[in-house]
Amino acid sequence: MIQKPKGTVDILPGQVEIWQAIEKTARDIMAKYRFNEIRTPMFESYDLFARGVGETTDVVTKEMYDFYDKGDRHIALKPEGTAPIVRAFIENKLYGPEYIKPYKVYYISPMFRYERPQGGRQRQFHQLGVEVFDGKTALSDVETIALAWEILETLGVKDLKLVINSLGDNEARLNYREALINYLKPFEEELSEDSKTRLYQNPLRVLDSKDPKDKEIVKDAPNILDYLSEASKERFEQVQSLLTALNIPYQIDSNMVRGLDYYQDTIFEIMTNSEVFGAETTICGGGSYSGLVKELSEGREDVPGFGFAIGMERLILLLEAQKSDLAVENPLDIYMVTIGQSVVREALQIVQALRRQGLNVEFDLNQRKPKKQFRDADRHGAAYTLTLGESELAEKNINVKNMTSGQEHHFAIDDVIEHFDQVKEAMKEGND
Ligand code: HAM
Repeated sequence: MIQKPKGTVDILPGQVEIWQAIEKTARDIMAKYRFNEIRTPMFESYDLFARGVGETTDVVTKEMYDFYDKGDRHIALKPEGTAPIVRAFIENKLYGPEYIKPYKVYYISPMFRYERPQGGRQRQFHQLGVEVFDGKTALSDVETIALAWEILETLGVKDLKLVINSLGDNEARLNYREALINYLKPFEEELSEDSKTRLYQNPLRVLDSKDPKDKEIVKDAPNILDYLSEASKERFEQVQSLLTALNIPYQIDSNMVRGLDYYQDTIFEIMTNSEVFGAETTICGGGSYSGLVKELSEGREDVPGFGFAIGMERLILLLEAQKSDLAVENPLDIYMVTIGQSVVREALQIVQALRRQGLNVEFDLNQRKPKKQFRDADRHGAAYTLTLGESELAEKNINVKNMTSGQEHHFAIDDVIEHFDQVKEAMKEGND
């Protein structure tokens, strides 16, 4: 039998409700911060990610789903949302004077990375992310971090830790890169295989290696914060002061670098130590990418950006482990029971009229015996059943039963299809 590809999941009814609840909560919060939704294609040109995310990153070298299409174009399924949105920002000239700045967008979208699947890591996963263009001060960094924090807090996620760092501007990074290589070189032979390859290609990544030996070596490595320009230092201090003003607790980890090349200055991760993952895991990651618009517009536009992405699967694992009751059930208002074929046409009309009143109504499309219909009404947890048989139809009325109290009465069909709320009231008062 054909099965789903490795690293993908089916999100079934019964599971999808928590997704919907999270999406609704997040959309409401993002609207408060005046973010609008943006939707970009699932696939893009391979070069967008090679140039945007970085040719030496794991995402590009190891994890991309890329292929040549029938027109021989090199295509990649998007592994992340930032580069595509920067592309859309440039291509649609969203930097133009007719658009309000900062330009703030959000997305909730599948992403694709060829990784080894495990708890909270899939090949098709989902990110809830935002991007802010042309936010020029630390206020923009902090407002965006505060948004991520508010989303997670409102969802009731516990035991989160915000970690921040600054990577400085290009010049600081180049100077730091050199100092780091000089420091690491004498340890080259002792480094893990991955770190050995990274040493000259992408030495900053050695800093966040999970290998215990690497960790020991980088403990005494030079600190990137000592290499920041005055402007970067000041910005990072402002970020800290504003986070404090908002009572958002944070830690600084100068070894945190993030896995994508476009970051400069402020970066952050929101992590958890929850046992569901077996190790400290990042739920949300982001930061500022001042050079990316310039890079992808070939120098034509120079607009700073800041954003983050929350991993939906990780967030849900966490909420489930915390026994969150976020997913609201959708109880059935009415189950329509029919007795005999002759009433089906009218029953269908009644069902549709009730649905138009905003009620959710179920009806046996297979017209089985009433006993089976009543059993299904129970399985749905219906608040009311309506029963229509030939005698009711002849008298233009219908039996209404409150499934909780067991109370039942006959009501005129016209009253039921016009004002079911009044029928409910009348039942409460015990008269029909
Ligand atoms: P990222 O750190 O690569 O950043 O991914 C963000 C989040 O996506 C991670 O913290 C994690 O929760 C989730 N994630 C990543 N890979 C997987 C996977 N294979 N399975 C499940 N979840 C995963 C970015 O993608 C940046 N674009 C974020 C950003 C936006 N920076 C600025 N703006």
